[in-house]
Amino acid sequence: MSSSSLSVGIIGARGYVGAELLRLIDRHRLFRLVFASSRSLDGQGVSRVIPGIHSDIRFEHLAPQVVAERKADVLVLALPNGLAAGYVSALPAEQVVIDLSADYRFDDTWYYGLPELTRAHASGKTRISNPGCYATAMQLALAPVVDRLETFPVCFGISGYSGAGTAPSDKNDPKNLADNIIPYKSVAHIHEREVSRQLGRPVRFLPNVAAFFRGIAMTVDMTLTDALTAQEALDHYQRFYEDEALISVQMEAPHVNRVVNRPGAMVGGFCVEPERRRLVVHSTLDNLLKGAATQALQNINLACGLEELEGIDIG
Ligand SMILES: NC(=O)c1ccc[n+]([C@@H]2O[C@H](COP(=O)([O-])OP(=O)(O)OC[C@H]3O[C@@H](n4cnc5c(N)ncnc54)[C@H](OP(=O)(O)O)[C@@H]3O)[C@@H](O)[C@H]2O)c1
Repeated sequence: MSSSSLSVGIIGARGYVGAELLRLIDRHRLFRLVFASSRSLDGQGVSRVIPGIHSDIRFEHLAPQVVAERKADVLVLALPNGLAAGYVSALPAEQVVIDLSADYRFDDTWYYGLPELTRAHASGKTRISNPGCYATAMQLALAPVVDRLETFPVCFGISGYSGAGTAPSDKNDPKNLADNIIPYKSVAHIHEREVSRQLGRPVRFLPNVAAFFRGIAMTVDMTLTDALTAQEALDHYQRFYEDEALISVQMEAPHVNRVVNRPGAMVGGFCVEPERRRLVVHSTLDNLLKGAATQALQNINLACGLEELEGIDIG
């Protein structure tokens, strides 16, 4: 199979994440969009609905068996939680499937694709679970010091309301969000379990949603086994991510408006209380890009044997 023939189909393609993936795949020089599934937009031209798309395909409402018959090289599932299994079970094991939902993030038979931290295990994997957006922000802030944590870190996150998807809810209702910040699920959020599982250490996670559309601001407060200065923390994080084109590390606290519509994440704002071995780190990313679609494209590229950053404009 020549790489120029790689075909990609997207299920859940009209949602916030699906639309970002449509754009990334549409302009990728080695991929070809072959279908985009949506129930509500069935029959409508994708390029007429999603700005910036050149493909002439139309949205279709595709049942799992029909998706299997289309035999796309790569299938992307950008559906709400709980819906992936019907598609996954209809597909042969060799077909590459990327699931954006949480459905397989706790399944050891799937590869958990946060490439900067897990790419060593990516080779040959065809079932790929894409991490959550908050979970990516937390893990990027924690990974460099995970072996030095004395106790559970506390992660306070604020998401833009696109994180709540397009189905109307309190968390994406502009009236409810105006001049507001809304805490929710302050214990046992699924991303708390996801990060604890991935890092092998318990974390606590306090999510909030605010009135901005896209982006995540994450503050991680931790106690370490040994004290370090803010400069030592910066040096350590910079070394940890020195080969990562999508992760930038800086002394200043990163701001959401610096990452919106950008493919990467920023980590920084190192504050310390050496006498208490306390370190506070901030991370930020665009929940629809590094928190979802860009990360999915990294995973698709790896699964197809391409350069991980092919088709990602790192600017
Ligand atoms: N938003 C984020 O920041 C973010 C970040 C990381 C991961 N994720 C995950 O990515 C997935 C998609 O999120 P999203 O924010 O893009 O959601 P969304 O905007 O609500 O889009 C959901 C998509 O799924 C389709 N859909 C909904 N219910 C369906 C059903 N019962 N059967 C078939 N299709 C259905 C919708 O299209 P039709 O209704 O037209 O069929 C739409 O295309 C979720 O699992 C989410 O947790 C989201």
